[in-house]
Amino acid sequence: MLKKKKKKKNRMSKFFLETFVLFGFLNFMTIITVLGTTLASSDITNPVPLNEETLAAGKKIYTHNCLPCHGEHGKGDGPAGQYLDPHPADYTGSAVTSKSDGFLFQRVSEGYNAMPEWADALTEEERWKVIHYIRTFASPAPVAGEAKEKGGKK
Ligand code: HEC
Repeated sequence: MLKKKKKKKNRMSKFFLETFVLFGFLNFMTIITVLGTTLASSDITNPVPLNEETLAAGKKIYTHNCLPCHGEHGKGDGPAGQYLDPHPADYTGSAVTSKSDGFLFQRVSEGYNAMPEWADALTEEERWKVIHYIRTFASPAPVAGEAKEKGGKK
């Protein structure tokens, strides 16, 4: 973007002004979006399709980032987790299974007590994928076809 501006020297000041205005507008939109997402995310359903591919991706993300605390079986008993108080969440417990994807997404994004925030380290898509994956600890082997059939799964 900067390079482009330099090339068109004669139009630079106009370009600069426009960019500046646009940038301000984009910032404004970002703030609105972030606010909106924060307020609404508890209600939104997982926008990433649930299938073998996304689960495999979620597993990778989990193994690299979450397993040390949450454990191989999602019980909250990872090697690094035992030193934390409170212990990392057990994904098979009702405290997690009762919550919506949107709620968990928000917790994961913002961090929660001893859990760091993941908004910078993982993209939104990655976070949704890993949420799909951690659901599998409570209900093993979710069938991709089930998601395709839909049937109002929450
Ligand atoms: C440094 C250890 C640590 C890592 C790494 C970690 N977590 Fe956690 N996580 C925790 C702790 C501790 C809690 C429980 C906090 C509490 O209950 O007060 C928690 C809670 C949770 C919860 C439950 C939130 C709730 O509302 O009950 C979810 C979901 C979760 N983590 C997902 C993840 C995901 C996904 C990752 C990887 C991207 C991850 N965590 C990585 C420590 C960790």
